[in-house]
Amino acid sequence: MRTYFDNAATSFPKPPSVQQAMARYATELGASPGRGAYAESRESDRLLQRCRRRINTLIHGESTDHVIFTLNCTDALNLAIRGAVRPGDHVITTECDHNSILRPLNRLQKDGVITFTRVAVDPASGRADPEDIRRAITPATRMIALLHGSNVTGGMQDLAAIGRIAREHDLLYLVDAAQTLGHHPMDVQELGIDLLAAPGHKGLLGPLGTGLLYIRPGVEKHLDTVREGGTGSLSERDVQPDFMPDRFEAGSHNTIGLIGLSAGVEWILERGVESIRKHESALIATMIESLTEWGDMPGFTLHGPATVKHRCGVFSITIDRFDDPTPLATLLETDYGLLTRPGLHCAPGAHRTLGTLERGGTVRFSFGPFLSTQDVKYAADAIGQICLQASAV
Ligand SMILES: Cc1ncc(COP(=O)(O)O)c(C=O)c1O
Repeated sequence: MRTYFDNAATSFPKPPSVQQAMARYATELGASPGRGAYAESRESDRLLQRCRRRINTLIHGESTDHVIFTLNCTDALNLAIRGAVRPGDHVITTECDHNSILRPLNRLQKDGVITFTRVAVDPASGRADPEDIRRAITPATRMIALLHGSNVTGGMQDLAAIGRIAREHDLLYLVDAAQTLGHHPMDVQELGIDLLAAPGHKGLLGPLGTGLLYIRPGVEKHLDTVREGGTGSLSERDVQPDFMPDRFEAGSHNTIGLIGLSAGVEWILERGVESIRKHESALIATMIESLTEWGDMPGFTLHGPATVKHRCGVFSITIDRFDDPTPLATLLETDYGLLTRPGLHCAPGAHRTLGTLERGGTVRFSFGPFLSTQDVKYAADAIGQICLQASAV
């Protein structure tokens, strides 16, 4: 038996309806939306707009046309950051953010365009103190850009409190929901989020090659395009259309992927994201309780919060005997059929915070809606057995 615990990289399996929707498009439609007057193109366009509507409903957005399709979450974050900042701006992020925020910021800083501050995160809770974010604000600060749930510690930021600070100081608020959208309720209006970036291929259960950026109505005025090209609209003009969503969607869409994504989001809406979160909470509680039942495991560390509250279904572990996480992940696969991800997970700052950077990171278990509490118990018991063997060596 092989059990997939790498949902933080991309979710697997996908609901059968995702494959069915993609197969139908591949065999019956195959056309580019908005590019033809014939029925198949019109139908493809209708399916794409339905995907936008479903995403807008899921996040409680204010406008379907402000859901922009991107290649992945990285692409969405690049558009949000590069589109928003101006020379001399200052941006605030956290120490545990992903390279898809840190690398564009570093590049912009290296090019002399912006400066940025990385606010520390408490290793035990995985959270940044919102007051530290407030203290980092300077007269030049234009944006707060941070992740919701950490893909290393599982800790979740206090989005509401940070959103209030962003509003008080009139800052753009960009949230990277790569590890939480589809797993957790998300209300962009209630949280005061200006820009919400997410992959389509993780919690939203769509295929790889899909992602989105939600742009709060009005915020598009402050966002430049980072890519221009064909949109199938206003083709007589040689400049990018200024209306949404075409302004930010140059080039042919990943239509087959987005139709799969639409089916993934429909699956989530039908079940209700609250009930998906409830299931994830049960998996998190099982992981923590099952590991606790093993008692004191010499050399074992569960990094990040040991609580259900304020955490998502991402667990990082180390066992001292394995001074590199890869052999531990290999053992979990070969002897227990557990598919995990060793390494630094594109978030070196998070590992610096945990003290795991020098040892090459951790082994990460990440949950999805198709895992059961028995699967999680099995994984925790595998960890317990490995620790027992390690202490007997
Ligand atoms: C927190 C976080 N942000 C951004 C990303 C980038 O997502 P994508 O691979 O869709 O570009 C990831 C992916 O692992 C992530 O965990």
